[in-house]
Amino acid sequence: MLILKTKAEIEQMKVSSRIAAEVLKRIEKEIFPGITTGELDRIAEAFIKERGGQPSFKGYRGYPASICTSLNEEVVHGIPGLRKLQEGDLLKVDVGVFKEGFHGDVTETYAVGKISLEAEKIKEVTKKALCAGIDRVIEGSRIGDISNAVQQYAEVNGFTVVRDFTGHGIGRNLHEDPQVTNFGKAGTGLRLKEGMVFCLEPMLNAGSAEVEILNDRWTVVTKDRKLSAHFEHTIAIVDGKAEVLSRL
Ligand code: MF3
Ligand code: CO
Repeated sequence: MLILKTKAEIEQMKVSSRIAAEVLKRIEKEIFPGITTGELDRIAEAFIKERGGQPSFKGYRGYPASICTSLNEEVVHGIPGLRKLQEGDLLKVDVGVFKEGFHGDVTETYAVGKISLEAEKIKEVTKKALCAGIDRVIEGSRIGDISNAVQQYAEVNGFTVVRDFTGHGIGRNLHEDPQVTNFGKAGTGLRLKEGMVFCLEPMLNAGSAEVEILNDRWTVVTKDRKLSAHFEHTIAIVDGKAEVLSRL
């Protein structure tokens, strides 16, 4: 079921989404070799609560932390813990904030110190693949137009697109319809409508698109253990155009 949002609801979602974006800005200052992912999680949780929100992920299907911290070959859903960041790591930080009944969801990929050329490239291409998707968000176009734009940009630049996880509608629930895959055919799928709100979140791999889940039952890694990058924004269709709610 697709739940369209009113302008007032979208304003509320902007509040949640911007807090999530502020969390990233706060966390970014701490990203240096030696800090643990668990420390990043504590900083994020405290920040979210200071702003009057709740971490969307904590307790979601039993997820044990407030943010996801995924390193290198980890694609998404890495659980923060005692692992220390190391020079050269590619770190993905995913933040969800729930406030006044609505969720916001945002992800960025960060370099820890100096990273390899390949890591730098996958980070930049993934960010631009998200932008290519956002560029297709306009009333009257279709979900498949977004999916196709993301896939094309990724593949032309030599990366593969993860198929087992997708973007999603968002609102009073963290995950709602529509599902937004990062691959597909232009001109297919649901038509975009005023009041739709969804997360676009391309996950690009340096090697094969295949992923598997570790024994912790959360961490998604590339099957070939090559690098992966991930960016995400929460986007609404307002006055027929894309409004990126999770951008500061
Ligand atoms: N941004 C991710 C998503 O939209 C984060 C979910 S983590 C979970 O699916 F723990 F909440 F599952
Ligand atoms: Co998401």
